[in-house]
Amino acid sequence: MRRKRKHRAIVLIGFMGSGKTTVGIRLSYRLRRAMEDTDKMIERREGRTISTIFAEEGEGYFREQETALLQELADKGYHQILSVGGGTPIKEENRKLLKKIGTVIYLRVRPETVYERLKGDNTRPLLQGDNPLEKITTLLEQRKAAYEEAADIVLDADDKDMDTIVEEIVEEMKEVRKHHETVGH
Ligand code: S3P
Repeated sequence: MRRKRKHRAIVLIGFMGSGKTTVGIRLSYRLRRAMEDTDKMIERREGRTISTIFAEEGEGYFREQETALLQELADKGYHQILSVGGGTPIKEENRKLLKKIGTVIYLRVRPETVYERLKGDNTRPLLQGDNPLEKITTLLEQRKAAYEEAADIVLDADDKDMDTIVEEIVEEMKEVRKHHETVGH
């Protein structure tokens, strides 16, 4: 008897405002697979928002929770759709865990796109204060290499609607599955 093989997880990474959560939710409907978001999981566990965690405990504490959660997901073999916080791929340890969890898809966006999408948002502690466009540009520049290193697949997500991105992911995942079937794992 042939045992049905589990899907590998689909992991969405990218800067704040790149559309990871929205794309993840739509992909979840499209593929009829569950979806989780690490920020939301941390908020549920902690019983407070990301902004409050940053304010009360500092960024370092949040980053520890993030890595601990990825480790748990990797250990238990999470195999659904996962979106992660924009800063997750910065740590090498996290990049390894993301790859272990599944196929990593990077939603790449320009700073101007992030700025337009997140104007007036007050839920991202790293973008508060004066000149958010400058902050976005600097952070994106600093993180670019980490995102690309973490990614199995890079998708430009600037001028596309979310459903187009979802269909691109579906097509990419068909190729990934074909490849895994050919190489036998
Ligand atoms: C962060 C991104 C946020 C959240 C936290 C830090 C970052 O997630 O994890 O505010 O360092 O880029 P989103 O990318 O979902 O906004």
